[in-house]
Amino acid sequence: MDNLNFNKIAAGVLCGGLLLMAGIKAGEIFLPHQELEENAYPFEVAEASDDGHNSAQVVEEAGPEPILAMLASADIAAGQALSKKCTACHVFDKGGPNKVGPNLYNVVNRDVASVADFKYSGALTDHGGAWSYEELNGFLYKPKAWVSGTKMNYAGLSKAEDRANIIAWLRTLSDNPTPLP
Ligand code: HEC
Repeated sequence: MDNLNFNKIAAGVLCGGLLLMAGIKAGEIFLPHQELEENAYPFEVAEASDDGHNSAQVVEEAGPEPILAMLASADIAAGQALSKKCTACHVFDKGGPNKVGPNLYNVVNRDVASVADFKYSGALTDHGGAWSYEELNGFLYKPKAWVSGTKMNYAGLSKAEDRANIIAWLRTLSDNPTPLP
């Protein structure tokens, strides 16, 4: 009799254990894991798209930032220092020679492609007009985009401040500097 009772109790405990396990499993399957979902990082996606390529593309498509308003307070000494990026191809002295590119003394408001003894590309000759502050700003931002087909092999100055500084310095290279805007 004792043995039988023991078996009954043992069977009861086993059955109870199995039911408990089945219940836990069923709970895992049928109840949504709400706690885990709350631990996810909902802000991650927004941050990633803020730093992503889209914003960079928008800046590129916007074209050169205008610099007219920056010219009066531009840093002329910084502009002169920047001209080191040009001296491989340009001379800035009055009466100086052409190198890979034409002499740039008095270039502000000079007619485009007008240095008599320099052989310009057809693209720049066809461009026409004069080197106003706006034209210089656009050309120096991305020469090949502003004058498609130019033979000036230079990537450009992407920072508006740099363009304002160098254009303000270029303006001083003249017997009779163009008035500031
Ligand atoms: C790798 C050589 C090279 C570099 C570097 C270079 N240029 Fe030029 N640049 C040229 C050439 C070549 C031309 C003539 C382009 C043409 O005929 O299409 C030119 C033309 C120009 C013109 C038009 C001049 C005119 O008479 O119409 C300006 C303005 C100018 N460059 C400014 C600059 C400035 C400012 C820098 C420096 C930030 C610079 N360039 C850097 C080669 C260069």
